[in-house]
Amino acid sequence: MKYYLTTPIYYVNAAPHIGHAYTTIVADTVRRLKAMQGYNAVLTTGSDEHGVNVERAAQRVGKSPKEYCDVIAAEFENQWRLLGLKVDHFQRTTSPQHARVVQDLFERCRKNGYIYKGSYTGQYCIHDNLYVNDAKAGDPCPDCGRPTETITEENFFFKLSAFQDKLLDLYNREPKFILPETRRNEVVSFVKTGLTDLSITRTNIKWGIPVAGEAPHVFYVWFDALTTYMSAVEGEHLWPADLHLIGKEIVRFHAIYWPAFLMAAELPLPKRIFAHGWLLFEESKMSKSRGNIVRPEPIRRVMGADALRYFLMREIVFGQDGSFSYDALVGRYNSDLANGLGNLASRTLTMINQYSGGAVPACTTEGAIPGLAMQTISAATAAFEEFEFSKGLETIWSLLSATDKFIVEQAPWTLAKNPDLRPKLDATLYTAAEVLRIATALLAPVLPESTAKIWAQLGTPGPLDAVRIRDLAWGQLHPGHKIGEVSAVFPRIDTAKAVVEMRALEEEEAARQAALVGKTPPPPAAETTPKISIDDFVKVDLRVGLVLEAEPVRGASKLLKLKVDLAEPQPRTIVAGIAEAYQPEQLIGRKVVIVANLEPRKLRGVESNGMIVAASIEGGKPTLAGFLEDVPVGARLK
Ligand code: MSP
Repeated sequence: MKYYLTTPIYYVNAAPHIGHAYTTIVADTVRRLKAMQGYNAVLTTGSDEHGVNVERAAQRVGKSPKEYCDVIAAEFENQWRLLGLKVDHFQRTTSPQHARVVQDLFERCRKNGYIYKGSYTGQYCIHDNLYVNDAKAGDPCPDCGRPTETITEENFFFKLSAFQDKLLDLYNREPKFILPETRRNEVVSFVKTGLTDLSITRTNIKWGIPVAGEAPHVFYVWFDALTTYMSAVEGEHLWPADLHLIGKEIVRFHAIYWPAFLMAAELPLPKRIFAHGWLLFEESKMSKSRGNIVRPEPIRRVMGADALRYFLMREIVFGQDGSFSYDALVGRYNSDLANGLGNLASRTLTMINQYSGGAVPACTTEGAIPGLAMQTISAATAAFEEFEFSKGLETIWSLLSATDKFIVEQAPWTLAKNPDLRPKLDATLYTAAEVLRIATALLAPVLPESTAKIWAQLGTPGPLDAVRIRDLAWGQLHPGHKIGEVSAVFPRIDTAKAVVEMRALEEEEAARQAALVGKTPPPPAAETTPKISIDDFVKVDLRVGLVLEAEPVRGASKLLKLKVDLAEPQPRTIVAGIAEAYQPEQLIGRKVVIVANLEPRKLRGVESNGMIVAASIEGGKPTLAGFLEDVPVGARLK
């Protein structure tokens, strides 16, 4: 029996961060879980390499698009290898095999009457050669801010509108096709509102898969990207996929476009799509454009891959958003791994050495633990099966702490002093060792590296990944067999020291990756700006202003027109590029910092008399400067 699963294929505009690692680690866990259930489990991940942005990034670093993609794809592949993830197929959308499958899918859809040539009208930035989806006439280009132009070009369209009923039938027939339920409901209501046909090719883009015999058309974004799931395993009899793991922001493409393409081509549909939540860092979605990302490599180097895996699987309820912080990462490690599992392992094995000559004692059973262990096997397995990783881990940890308590109550160190109590001592040690063996097997998919070490220390014959979960039962540890050499699997970590180390490595890694994509990270301000004298500074008239009114500027999605009180006879009109970060109503009544002596400037026909001061992060949204204490309107900043 096969189990074929996938992660999204990641864009090559950035090197891997822990958001990408999150999905890939979960996928690796599911793959290992399925393998331990006896499936031939196969995992595909890869890289999404076409499009103008990639062409441009390549230009920045003086490479051809393909050379550039080679570098970034290798970053991803290498990161997955370093993290020990079992990736069976790393599929690149630039591979010739992939192009063939995309062209094939297109032909099948076309033959069945679902493709037509139509005219596409949309907003386009001539300067950046960028199609701006969902923009209105005159909206600025998100990259350069110049006004976009409305263009009309001939494209191939996919008749998505023909699939509304078929898709709704599918969601009805297969209630678990999209998980979790909240995402399913979103998709169902979206599809119920009606579907419009989809333009799937472009003629202005060069870096894409050509539509065979239809130059200059190339495939546009999703028709190309989604097909990777099939092209990666072409000829391997693995299609349809059993599971597509994705982040929630791409659920529509997967749950609507993808099954529609496949239905149009009369190909089997994937069995399940699970859309997980976002990993937040510093309170917002971790993303390159916000500049709030954390990379996996510093964490791996300081704490090991299993520490990251455990944190992600235990701390975040799969399907919901969750926050990452270095403190929480080390905290979880110390409390659950060092003190919990690690402590039980070293305590148990050390006692077997000390009181039982390094051999598993006679098999006797004592107390409620064996029953609890059997319950844990089924409860944890059921939770994992339902993608409730955190719950499954919690169940296993309840067994570990019950066992800890049991050891303390039995007090083997006291039992060992009285030869008459030998059977009780043996039962205690056997019970602890059995729990350790069972927990280690159950945890192998989540903590592959460290469970393999515990397994070896237990001296259990055969490799851990050959264990079949369904065969796990109490009493399989053979009395008399020798345990291996004992050493700490999860040494305690000093939080402050580890965080400093990880942050330092993070900076190094950020600089290395920035060089790869041709963007230098912002160096400390002191190094970039020339020094000015105090006389220069006083020329800037900075004042406290109070926002009285705020409204959007028509045709400019980034701009707001503000009326600001500066304690002058008349309030000033100031146009500010903050519309993407603030709603007008959030600003009214807010005290802000204004450069009051800037020459007037016309923006979109509105004269702006001053500038609002905001922190700006490259690619991120502006954040207004403000005051914690109350300050009078008109006060000067010096
Ligand atoms: N190339 C498309 C996907 C095409 S699939 C046929 C794409 N690429 S991406 O590089 O932006 O990756 C998005 C995926 O990365 C998310 O769906 C999710 O799996 C993962 N994540 C990226 N950032 C993430 C977080 N901050 N949090 C959780 N997952 C994140 O979209």
